[in-house]
Amino acid sequence: MAARDDEMRQDQPFAIEAKGLAKWVSDGNEKLSILQDIHLQVRAGESLAMVGPSGCGKSTLLGLLAGLDTPSQGEVYWAGEAIASLSEEARSLRRNGRFGFVFQSFQLLPQLNAIENVMLPLELRGDRDARSKAKAMLAEVGLLGREQHFPATLSGGEQQRVALARAFVVTPELLFADEPTGSLDYESGARVMELFFNLQKSLGTTLIIVTHDDSLAKASSRCLRMQAGRIV
Ligand SMILES: Nc1ncnc2c1ncn2[C@@H]1O[C@H](COP(=O)(O)OP(=O)(O)OP(=O)(O)O)[C@@H](O)[C@H]1O
Ligand SMILES: [Mg+2]
Repeated sequence: MAARDDEMRQDQPFAIEAKGLAKWVSDGNEKLSILQDIHLQVRAGESLAMVGPSGCGKSTLLGLLAGLDTPSQGEVYWAGEAIASLSEEARSLRRNGRFGFVFQSFQLLPQLNAIENVMLPLELRGDRDARSKAKAMLAEVGLLGREQHFPATLSGGEQQRVALARAFVVTPELLFADEPTGSLDYESGARVMELFFNLQKSLGTTLIIVTHDDSLAKASSRCLRMQAGRIV
């Protein structure tokens, strides 16, 4: 059975594929290279951890894979479709419908309280149960009772958990997470990790996680090491 599942997966396009990606920026007349020669393939349901020293290009690569940034060279494919060939509208439709993001800087909306931040992606989809789902998800990340708190009144770790709740609440097909446990203590980190892998198991969510956390990297099905803008 497992072998047949594997065979079936082989026939499907990769959930994410990158071919020959490069990213550079020009600073006056100097060209600053951020990423070079990136090739990678991620199958649906896989969990990929990306590790490497600060500044090696992990967040930049994550942004390219999620279509939030455009490469200077090369192509990213979502389920076999080159994202450069999609209109901005088609791109955001796919993102809103199937992707979850956890940003390194959390990116909560400061004018919305915790529960409203978590409800937002559900409301964008017209989900009528947004409030109850958001509340349940806040409970999962240990923030029950903090629904009405605004980001400015939450600690870094609490903001990170709100950001995680916002990403998980849409039960995404693909979850991009940048240092999701970076601001958490051991216990909350372990709980968040459990959330990740439960989501992967129950929904077959594909996980792409940038992390410095060894236990998170070890629990992933594959670990990709980067250095100075390259996969090593
Ligand atoms: N828009 C930009 N303009 C200039 N330099 C940039 C830009 N974006 C990223 N960089 C540079 O590219 C390099 C890679 O940045 P990136 O944020 O991807 O690193 P990272 O691996 O995520 O690091 P960290 O672990 O500290 O988060 C850094 O040296 C950064 O300063
Ligand atoms: Mg980063």
